[in-house]
Amino acid sequence: MNSFLELVKSRQSDRAYLDKPVEKEKLDRILEAARLAPSACNAQPWKIIVVTDPEKRMQVAEATESKLLSMNHFTKQAPVQLVILEESANFTSNAGGWATNKHYPHIDLGIVAAHISLAATDEGLGSCIIGWCDEKKIQKVLEIPKNKRVMLVILLGYSSQSLRNKKRKSKDEIVSWEKY
Ligand SMILES: Cc1cc2nc3c(=O)[nH]c(=O)nc-3n(C[C@H](O)[C@H](O)[C@H](O)COP(=O)(O)O)c2cc1C
Repeated sequence: MNSFLELVKSRQSDRAYLDKPVEKEKLDRILEAARLAPSACNAQPWKIIVVTDPEKRMQVAEATESKLLSMNHFTKQAPVQLVILEESANFTSNAGGWATNKHYPHIDLGIVAAHISLAATDEGLGSCIIGWCDEKKIQKVLEIPKNKRVMLVILLGYSSQSLRNKKRKSKDEIVSWEKY
């Protein structure tokens, strides 16, 4: 099988992690994969805060938990968090977005998240993209200016979960050829 497709099939959202640190070299390669991601007009409207300090990590993890929705109660286990911030885009990305009624930085950040999670899989690491979080709490813990949006927290670590079958729509449902 094509090795990229194999990589894609081995990525999953991991929600349980071993108590084992992530090697700095692995983290560096994952961050390089993020840095090289494409973006509209090459605006690169992102900043990534790496959180490994145990105290800060616990506080960020708490900010991802929701009692009400019973979500993200596993996040304290991951030894590394990548906090993905939206930064201002450049003039051309903003102008293009205005003309097409699209907010390109959100698309760009999604691509960065894909690069990160696939690079993590390639390094033998588990990951989970976390969209639910209390932005204000994270801003406070990580001294992020109030006008910067915290869009995602990506957990990284050695997974203790085995690979699940993917639940996905069929190709027929999502792909059509030549017309809608
Ligand atoms: C933008 C985004 C936000 C997500 N937020 C959460 C989250 O807050 N908590 C969580 O457990 N999973 C979250 N996920 C993971 C999805 O639930 C998961 O990707 C989806 O169910 C498919 O499963 P898989 O990643 O194991 O293939 C998020 C994924 C994306 C792309």
